Amino acid sequence: MNTPQNADADNLKHQSNIGRLDDVDIHDWYRFVYAYSDRVITSLVDEFDIEQDDLLIDPFNGTGTTTLAAKKLGIDSIGTDTSPASVLSARCKTNWDVDLDEFRSRRSELLSTLQPIFKQISSQGNTTLDSFGSSDGDEVDLSQYDFTEPKKTPKGWLSEKPLKKMEVLKYHVEEMPDNDVTDLFRLAMIAILPEDVGNVRFGPEATRDRKQEGDKDVFTILKNKLQEIEDDLESVQQAMAAGEVDPGEAEILRADARKLADTLREESELLNSDKHEGEVDYLITSPPYPAEHDYTRNQRLELIWLNAADDNKDLQKIKKANIRSHTKNIYVADDEGEQVNIRENDRVDSIVAEMERIIEEEDISHGFGKYYPRVIEEYFAGMQHHFEQVYDLLAPGGKAAYVVGDSGSYWQVEVETAKILGELAQNRVGFEEPEVNLWRNMAATTADYDDIEENVLILTKPE
Ligand SMILES: C[S@@+](CC[C@H](N)C(=O)[O-])C[C@H]1O[C@@H](n2cnc3c(N)ncnc32)[C@H](O)[C@@H]1O
Repeated sequence: MNTPQNADADNLKHQSNIGRLDDVDIHDWYRFVYAYSDRVITSLVDEFDIEQDDLLIDPFNGTGTTTLAAKKLGIDSIGTDTSPASVLSARCKTNWDVDLDEFRSRRSELLSTLQPIFKQISSQGNTTLDSFGSSDGDEVDLSQYDFTEPKKTPKGWLSEKPLKKMEVLKYHVEEMPDNDVTDLFRLAMIAILPEDVGNVRFGPEATRDRKQEGDKDVFTILKNKLQEIEDDLESVQQAMAAGEVDPGEAEILRADARKLADTLREESELLNSDKHEGEVDYLITSPPYPAEHDYTRNQRLELIWLNAADDNKDLQKIKKANIRSHTKNIYVADDEGEQVNIRENDRVDSIVAEMERIIEEEDISHGFGKYYPRVIEEYFAGMQHHFEQVYDLLAPGGKAAYVVGDSGSYWQVEVETAKILGELAQNRVGFEEPEVNLWRNMAATTADYDDIEENVLILTKPE
C-alpha cells in the first residue's frame, strides 16, 4: 500500500504510462454491452492510492476492462470470469508479448485463403456480379466445410451467407496451432460475430435486427479487426522496447467468484508469487445484479464459435457457475439462500415477501415471474459466499469496490443492491462499515420506472 514518501513517484509513473498509451485503446478489440468504462478503474485507483507493488483483482472481469486498465497503469492484476469468451478476451488484451511477426504471416496466409472462398459464397445464387466480387476464376472446392447452422444459434441471428463465411473462418482458425497467436484470431473471429457479421442488436438484451439481414463483407470486417489488433500491439511493443512504459502483469483465469479464494490459491501464479505472497490488496469489479441480464444469451454466438455452447450441457455448465441473477439461470437444486438463511436479512426478507404477495394476489403460476423471489434469495446468498472468499484473500486494510446497479426489473419492486450487499458483507462476513457512493443514474430498462442508481459499494477488511 501507499506510503507518503513514494506516493508522488508512483502517481507520476501512472501518469506517464497513461500518457504514452492514450491512443492505444485495446478495450475495443472485443467488448460487450455490460462492459464498464476504464474511467471507473482510473478514478478508483486514484481514490485508493493503489500503487505498483499492489495486487488488484476483478472476480467478474468480463471482457477484461479492469485487468487491461491495471496493466496500462503498471499494476499487477488477476481477472476471473466464468465465460470462456470473456476469459479469451481478457487474456488477449493483456498479453503484450505475443509474436507479431508470426501474427502477420498467419494473417496474410489466412486472408489469402479466405478471399476467393468468401467471393464464391457471396456470388452463390447470383446471376449478376455482386458487390463483393465475382465468381470468375477457378471454383473453390467447399465440400470440406460443414455449413449446418449450429443448433444453439438463435433464429435469424446470422443470415445464410455470413453464416457460411464464419463457418469457413472457424474451420481455418481451428486448424492453427493452439497458442497465443491463434488466440488473437479466435478473438477477432468472435468480436465481429454478433453486430458486424450477424444481425444482433443489444438493447441491452440481444435481439434479432431484421434490418441487418443479408450478405456481409466479412472479409473486410475481419481484415479491419485484425489490423486494429496489430496496430495496437505494435504501439505497445514499441513503447515497451523503448522503455517508455512499465506495464503490470496480468493473469486471467476461469473461475466461479463464489469459489474465488479456493481457485486462486490453487491455480494463480501471480497470487502465490514472492512479490504478492498470497495476498490481494484491492478489488475493483462490476458484478451481476438481479436484472434479467442473460450473459450466456448475449454472448451466444461467441460461445458457439469457441465450441463452448454446442449443446445444453455445455451451456448449462457456464450458467450454473454464474451468480444467479436472472430467472433463466435458476435451478431446482439451488439452495444457497437456504444454506445461509438469507431471509434473516430484513431487506431481503421484505423484497421476497412483497414478491410472494404479488404472486399470490395475481395468481401467477406460469411464466418466469414465479421465479423472481428465488432470484433475489439465490443472488444475495451467492454474493455472500463470494464476499467470504474475498475476505479470505484480502490483506488486512485491503479494499474492495463493487460497481452495482439497483434494480426495479421485477414488478418494479425496489432492490437496493449495493445497500443490501454492504449489510451482508458487514454483518455476516466481517468487513468494516461499508460506504455506498452514487456512481451515476442509469436509464431504467422498464419504461415506467424512474432512473435507477448505479453505486460503488466500498468494503474494507479490518486491519
Ligand atoms: C457486469 S459483467 C462485468 C463486465 C466487465 N466489468 C467488463 O467491463 O467487461 C459481469 C460478469 O460476471 C460474470 N459472472 C457471472 N457470474 C459469475 C461467477 N459466479 N463468477 C465469475 N464471473 C461471473 C459474467 O460472465 C459477466 O462477464
